[in-house]
Amino acid sequence: MDSFRIHGPARLAGAVRAGGAKNAALPALAASLLAGAPLEIEDAPRVRDLETMRRLLDHLGVASRWEGSRLHLGPGGAASPDDAPYELVKTMRASVLVLGPLTARRGHARVSLPGGCAIGVRPIDQHLAGLEALGAKVTLAHGYVEARAERLIGTRFRFAVPTVTGTENLLMAASLARGVTVLENCAREPEVEDLARLLVTMGARIEGAGGDSIRIEGVDSLGGGRHRVIPDRIEGGTYLIGAALTGGDVTLTEAQPVALLPLLEALTGCGAEVTRGENWVRVTRAGDLSSRDVVTAPYPGFPTDLQAQYVALMTQARGVATVIETVFENRMQHVAELARMGADIRLDGRTARIHGPTRLSGASVMATDLRASACLVLAGLAAEGETVVDRIYHLDRGYEAMENRLVALGARVERVRRPD
Ligand code: UD1
Repeated sequence: MDSFRIHGPARLAGAVRAGGAKNAALPALAASLLAGAPLEIEDAPRVRDLETMRRLLDHLGVASRWEGSRLHLGPGGAASPDDAPYELVKTMRASVLVLGPLTARRGHARVSLPGGCAIGVRPIDQHLAGLEALGAKVTLAHGYVEARAERLIGTRFRFAVPTVTGTENLLMAASLARGVTVLENCAREPEVEDLARLLVTMGARIEGAGGDSIRIEGVDSLGGGRHRVIPDRIEGGTYLIGAALTGGDVTLTEAQPVALLPLLEALTGCGAEVTRGENWVRVTRAGDLSSRDVVTAPYPGFPTDLQAQYVALMTQARGVATVIETVFENRMQHVAELARMGADIRLDGRTARIHGPTRLSGASVMATDLRASACLVLAGLAAEGETVVDRIYHLDRGYEAMENRLVALGARVERVRRPD
């Protein structure tokens, strides 16, 4: 298991480009199960989660190959398995994204239940209720969900909670249903909108993606096409937080600033200077940081995927910052590790009160999930001395070559390779 060795403190300065969004690329890959012709995904990030999805697709009969940062997929073989085994699903919850496409295209899917994960229970009841509303017969047995339908039928379905992958699953399923489907209380994340753009390229008829209500007119078949995924707002946002944290000056190039607005508002509010153009954002900080409260919420709220990194930032801000996690029930595991580096954080359930500023000192810490790892790396940049962040495989799930990007921005970070 690899780890990062970080020598702090550092000041991040320069230009950095985030890769294509992991959370847009994953559903784009799953959409290949619907495609009747080859699909090309441009700017797909070289991260572990995508490799897991490629392995799953390979098992399901869709071959893929890289050409630089472009991924060529399928089309799928007709007589392929239609099950997503536990071994793959357990390492990546987003494997559940194959459920909708398989049911819609092949009439049958058998997908392992994801089970608990490091940041909470994360049920998939809404995915299942939506598929049932579309006419699928859904059964649960032996840790697997099985869905069957000769042809899905358009319907009206309201999500009880806005779910990102749930909305994406139903969007894909409804694209091949007979008749019109209206989905309500949808997740409005830019990644949902990006998937809809891809499906439209493939021949789907979708209106309203990115909003609360999406209308899908089912078609008999979908083709292939070429699609460039949007830039990763979470990866980019992590480097911008790093700029504010280290008193640095970072320009994110090829970004979508609008998708970053909740973060940019928070950064301005705590004393960083934010300037932006149509497709770039620059964050600098010369003066002191002041605390600013944040409550995570579905888009366009403050993203839960940047909460841990923001907590690291608040350790360097004057005053008490209250950070409330409302999306997941167990997503504060970075707090205990930050405390080992000298942070003063009082945790009460999903609410963290960060007293700052505190002087962080380098320590050996352990990453528990993807975004918590990013938080610890940022803290290591701000800390005095050496920080070793263990279990970097979590980080590799969603950040492409983070150490190279940080080194290019002036940090001293090295990957220590250790065979598993
Ligand atoms: C996606 C993102 C993840 C991000 C999360 C929230 C991908 C691959 N992953 O995850 O990075 O942290 O959105 O922005 O895009 N819920 C239910 N029932 C369901 C589905 C969800 O109760 O059927 C709940 C979850 O437990 C959670 C909330 O809804 O509390 C939001 O989860 P959801 O949007 O589904 O997250 P994911 O799609 O898994």
